[in-house]
Amino acid sequence: MTNKARAHWGSKLGFVLAAAGSAIGLGNIWRFPFVTQQNGGGIFVLIYILFVAIIGFPVMLGELTIGRHTQKNPVGAYKSLAKGWVWLGYLCVAGGIGILSYYGVVAGWTVGYLVKSMTGDLDPQGFGKFLANAPLQIGYLVLFIGITGAVVAAGVQKGIERMSEVLLPLLFVLMIGLIIRAFTLPNAMEGLKFYLMPDFSKISASTFLAATGQAFFSLSLGMGAMITYGSYLDKKDNLVTSAIAVVSADTLIAILAGLLIFPVIGHGLGKGGPSLVFVTMIEQFSQMQGGQIVAILFFLLLAIAALTSTVSLMEVGVAYLVDEHGLSRPKAVGILMVPLLALGIPAALSLGAVDSLSNIVGGKGFLDIMDFVFGNLGLTIGALFMCIFLVYRWGIWKAAKEVLSGSPGFGKYVWVWKLLLGYVVPAFIVSLLVYNLYQTFAG
Ligand code: TRP
Repeated sequence: MTNKARAHWGSKLGFVLAAAGSAIGLGNIWRFPFVTQQNGGGIFVLIYILFVAIIGFPVMLGELTIGRHTQKNPVGAYKSLAKGWVWLGYLCVAGGIGILSYYGVVAGWTVGYLVKSMTGDLDPQGFGKFLANAPLQIGYLVLFIGITGAVVAAGVQKGIERMSEVLLPLLFVLMIGLIIRAFTLPNAMEGLKFYLMPDFSKISASTFLAATGQAFFSLSLGMGAMITYGSYLDKKDNLVTSAIAVVSADTLIAILAGLLIFPVIGHGLGKGGPSLVFVTMIEQFSQMQGGQIVAILFFLLLAIAALTSTVSLMEVGVAYLVDEHGLSRPKAVGILMVPLLALGIPAALSLGAVDSLSNIVGGKGFLDIMDFVFGNLGLTIGALFMCIFLVYRWGIWKAAKEVLSGSPGFGKYVWVWKLLLGYVVPAFIVSLLVYNLYQTFAG
């Protein structure tokens, strides 16, 4: 492998689409609406946008900078910058595998529901039965991880970039079409009011913490995905405008997802949570004129969003195996299948199919625990140490020098970046960790 030039993106737009594709996912269309619903509607949306700017953006720029500077996967990147920090790279690789194994389960549901909507089998009561069906759960997981593996094996330019160039514009068109349909529904005004009118009485500490967690997850931060994607960037690319483009695209799609979901469900209450799109939306589709077509397009939208994200999760591990162990991409994908399925299959069976996996502690099943460990603790810990590393070990000016190559105007803002990465982001992450651990073990 060493005699081959390292992969690079074909164009800056290709990179922006791929990175936006990583960020835009189930986190935007499935998670953002129900987290908004649980945290007071409009006021959460406002706080979220603020947090994306002050927490998400500086961390995104930090990850891209580490990646582009080292031109390596997270393990290689930390190893080459400071030997003692290589564990953080391994945490990234483990995190990518951990998240993908359960994210792939939910991604599989979107394909399952795409098939259900095509065959006209849309029963709001059917979700529990679907989750309890072991062969279907495993089948859709394997299918989704398999498609992801095929894209990743095809390469950075020929696989990931090319797929993103086709799917992201399609996702946008589907979204706009569905929003137009949603706005013509009788419940639309009521739903939009809940979504867009901030009610300041609903702010509490947990609103801020939910916004922090959602920002990391939605922007694909804390797990080296952006280090990896940044490592395929060229020295002359402008990291600042790239990060702005990715962060804005992700936030735009999250906000649009709310404009699609809330007019359909009509109000902020009702059955929310993770079953929001698989139960509440189905109830509405089954009563709506042309509901079957709307359902097909909606689940296609979800499946596309999920695929561009699962690809980035797998790419972290693949880049590691390719860079550090000299494997070919297809071989690396094959090896990753082992831990992915070893963790993914129990997750797939943990929502009713197998009792012992579905209730491990306090009513939480294997998938819930994976989400807590990797999607919640892992991401925030990964982001926290990335910030500490960048500011206090590598040094903000060394990092800034990398940003300046391609964005010469950045010099004036380095102190803001240092303030945010060195103090503001760590303070929010530590509060979030303390709060979550307290909730889990004492609450
Ligand atoms: N951001 C994606 C979403 O919103 C999920 C995702 C992809 C992710 N890659 C990641 C989350 C890396 C954390 C880290 O659905």
